[in-house]
Amino acid sequence: MTTDIRGNQLPEVEARRRLAAGLKLYRKRTRQLIDPLSYDDVHSQQSSIMSPLVWDVGHVGNFEEFWLLRELDGRAPHDPLYDEMYNPFDNPRWTRGDLPLLDRDEAVEYSDEVRGDALAILERVDLDPNDPLLRDGYVFKMVIQHEAQHHETILQALDLREDLEPYAVAGFAPPGHESAVDDSEQILIPGGPFLAGTDERTESYDNERPQHWVEVSAFGIDRFPVTNRRFAEFVEAGGYDRRDLWTSEGWDWRTDENVEAPQGWIRQVGGGWLIRRFGHILDLDLSEPVQHVSFHEAEAFARFAGGRLPTEFEWEKAASWGSEATAPRIYPWGSTAPSSELANVGQSRWGPAPVGSYPSGVSAYGVEQLLGDVYEWTSSPFVGYPDFSAFPYPQYSEVFFDDADYRVLRGASWATSTAVTRSSFRNWDYRVRRQIFSGIRLAWDV
Ligand code: AVJ
Ligand code: FE
Repeated sequence: MTTDIRGNQLPEVEARRRLAAGLKLYRKRTRQLIDPLSYDDVHSQQSSIMSPLVWDVGHVGNFEEFWLLRELDGRAPHDPLYDEMYNPFDNPRWTRGDLPLLDRDEAVEYSDEVRGDALAILERVDLDPNDPLLRDGYVFKMVIQHEAQHHETILQALDLREDLEPYAVAGFAPPGHESAVDDSEQILIPGGPFLAGTDERTESYDNERPQHWVEVSAFGIDRFPVTNRRFAEFVEAGGYDRRDLWTSEGWDWRTDENVEAPQGWIRQVGGGWLIRRFGHILDLDLSEPVQHVSFHEAEAFARFAGGRLPTEFEWEKAASWGSEATAPRIYPWGSTAPSSELANVGQSRWGPAPVGSYPSGVSAYGVEQLLGDVYEWTSSPFVGYPDFSAFPYPQYSEVFFDDADYRVLRGASWATSTAVTRSSFRNWDYRVRRQIFSGIRLAWDV
């Protein structure tokens, strides 16, 4: 028998079937994202801060080759050059355009070949309950999550481009339940300890473990992510020019980069804003969560509004705990798998959804849209939890711990796949990054 993250028992044959289905589903998505693009779109390094998209395609295949073919089955490297080219540490993003990368067809062929072998290995490998790599299919779920996280990277690179032809895959379907709400409403979270993180080992990453008690004082938190309406007030009030709202590092960044609005905002002559999204020019929807802001912009906005960014534990308590709780919930709404009723995840709508769109995704404390729409900046640096131990490799998270230039982001974005969506998930990035699908939710001292 195997177990899944929700504690369901599955016979091994059914677990294997689901793992194969997951691998295929996310590979299909990689192809759907890449296929409509031109040769140049996928091969050229469009921005020094992102990889050429063919690098992501080859890297995903190489990661799978390493974990499923070599670690599980002892195969020899397909080509040592691939290990060099697709190693993210040896090749910073700005250098990847100069590598002798596989072209689009070759990268697809290589990753398909790896995939064929991986599926054959999955059919016969023992999901040994005594081996943490194989138990409940962990390593296969890791490979699935890895590919899904690179979908987000691919989408970030595309959304960054100002010259992208309107992207064919992008869908801007309206959400199901939009209703008028007060976008500035605050929820009081009572003080007291809660259980942070998880000991779950079927799919959670090492940085989410171990579970431990954290004492949190009473605080207020926004019921919704900060909307474009609220952020536009900051812009219109000259927030980008008010030195007093920025830290000195934030001000240096804002000045060096000459930033005047979130990425993608286009000021209209005569007032108002348009927004560029995947080559489409749309009206700025004031009820949507603001997206594509850096940590520095999030902090400056917080100071303008009189609030602050939550710590990652405040965020997690608001998402996973409740007045009667004795154990955290996997998702704010409980343990039901994410769906289009509960949260805007999984790339169905190509941007955040208006606040008030997911009342059934509410947390026990009454906080909404914690998962989906945008990742939310927290004030927390990225560190290991007490008694952290790297598994299965330190390069996923441990090597990034304690770097003062990172901050933790919590939640999930509209582009996050359901395989990566859970309240204990910790994302992190450089404070200056805003090509990620990042937004803001304010906390308030009480
Ligand atoms: C967790 C989003 C910071 O993209 O650098 C992808 C995810 N790790 N391949 C990243 C990841 C290895 C990672 N983040
Ligand atoms: Fe990767």
